[in-house]
Amino acid sequence: MTHQFDVIIVGAGGAGLRAAVEIGGQYSCAVLTKVHPLRSHTGAAQGGVCAALGNLEEDNPEWHAFDTIKGSDYLGDQDAIEVMCNDAPRAVIELEHMGMPFSRTAEGKIAQRQFGGHTRPLDRDDPDSKRVAVQRACYSADRTGQAMLNTLYENSLKNNVRFFSEFFVTELLYADGVASGVVAIEILTGEIHVFHAKAVMFATGGDGRIWRITSNAHVGTGDGFMLAYNAGLPLEDMEFMQFHPTGLWKLGILVSEAARGEGGILRNKDGERFMERYAPTVKDLAPRDMVSRAIIQEIREGRGIKGSDGTEYVLLDLTHLDIKIITEKIPEIVGFARTYLGVEPTKEGVPVQPTAHYVMGGIPTDVDGRVRLDHKDGIVKGFYAAGECACVSVHGANRLGTNSLLDLIVFGRRGGKAIVEFLKSGAEFAPLPPNAGEATKSKTVEIKSRTSGNKPAPLRTEMQQLMMDDCGIFRDAKGLQSALDRIGELREKYKTVVIDDKGNQFNTDLLEAIELGNLLDTAQLVVTCALNRTETRGGHAREDFPDRDDHNWLKHTFASKNGDGNPRLEYRPVAITKYQPKKRVY
Ligand code: FUM
Repeated sequence: MTHQFDVIIVGAGGAGLRAAVEIGGQYSCAVLTKVHPLRSHTGAAQGGVCAALGNLEEDNPEWHAFDTIKGSDYLGDQDAIEVMCNDAPRAVIELEHMGMPFSRTAEGKIAQRQFGGHTRPLDRDDPDSKRVAVQRACYSADRTGQAMLNTLYENSLKNNVRFFSEFFVTELLYADGVASGVVAIEILTGEIHVFHAKAVMFATGGDGRIWRITSNAHVGTGDGFMLAYNAGLPLEDMEFMQFHPTGLWKLGILVSEAARGEGGILRNKDGERFMERYAPTVKDLAPRDMVSRAIIQEIREGRGIKGSDGTEYVLLDLTHLDIKIITEKIPEIVGFARTYLGVEPTKEGVPVQPTAHYVMGGIPTDVDGRVRLDHKDGIVKGFYAAGECACVSVHGANRLGTNSLLDLIVFGRRGGKAIVEFLKSGAEFAPLPPNAGEATKSKTVEIKSRTSGNKPAPLRTEMQQLMMDDCGIFRDAKGLQSALDRIGELREKYKTVVIDDKGNQFNTDLLEAIELGNLLDTAQLVVTCALNRTETRGGHAREDFPDRDDHNWLKHTFASKNGDGNPRLEYRPVAITKYQPKKRVY
């Protein structure tokens, strides 16, 4: 079946929905999601969305921008960061006006809390003066992402956006610098649909499921990355994966940084508040790359706590917090600790370990969501990306907490506006490629008709473990090369992937097999880029190259598919406006 819409958005998380709100009502707009919009991964974001509203203490978008640049280890594009931070107060107030139920201050203003790496200078006229944590994260208890998702979904419905839930997109239809639509499998029936559009936006989220311990929902399989890459488009800075310091031990479920923003403390096996040694000024509220490395360092030096399965963790201590803070501000994560680990956070520490959380890289775009054709200034006609799948690049080598929900609403809206302008300028439907949908059809028939080969689950488990071991928080050439070799072997085995379910309806066996292909291809790219970047910057810590190397590496990696199937690596300079790179000290 073929459908025609002015705009197709793939992904119904915060970015996709915010764009849809902008476009719906003006042009025909359909959102495709492989789940239901309200089950998008944005719902897992807990602690907040930041904006220098200054509701509780003085704040300023300029300070927010400085923190984001420093937090990015100077790899973020400063012009884009300024756009995001300057627009943040407006974007948050707009959400409030759309009906988002924010927590409130005593005066009824939007409540704000501290988060890692968000600071203000003690001397407001001297940016170089000592900085202390600032309350910049606007929140809805610890369910901020879910509150945002509900608000944007309701507003999309109000604007007549059409939803295709449980549609799994398998191809971007793209040729010669122009996008013309997508191909999707309807999960309920197995039917293949072609969506023809004047503009396509990807808001497909991240790829955390490459790693064994991850905060990502099961949908985080990097599909959007691979659809763009396999169509011949570049991906930017894929070596930069953020590990959030506090995943629930063994499970990886996010334990929001809000817990530390509200006063929670990380302790090692001796009860020591170890972050005092690593980041003496902001301590537990240092940026995530630093806190994650500190936790692993503690464990390596024998100060972790051994769990029943032999793996180690540290403790997040909330026992000193007022019960009102626990019940009103962080009820969700306290519930997770009780339900999943049987721990009572009001009485004992919560076992935590770093968890693969967020892709800083992705499909390269300008500040209006327009996808870059190459590492220079080329732009793809009719193709846009926003949210975690996109790399604007505002997060550089390390994202600050709560800047991701902000990224969704700022760049989702800007992408939506740019699409409206594109349509107003008289954009037409580009011709569909001949036989659109045939590639997906043959792929599904091939996988379903195979009677022997490799089952997806063991391949996935092996990939997830080797990525934890060799392409996690600390990396070196030996481990990365071994990871690359082993992923190569897994990709070979994947060529004969076999599934049990041969049916059409709700064939999740088939979907998981296709997702695994995307995961393996993305993993190959992540490791290739990580091996190539011979320095330590933000979330990419090379033990064999422990220093940041601005002379050689103050640049973005652009990886594109070579004729031989291997990535070709090129570079784009970082946009620097006001802040020259400095040593990052907290
Ligand atoms: O810790 C958190 O609540 C996560 C927020 C984020 O990743 O922005």
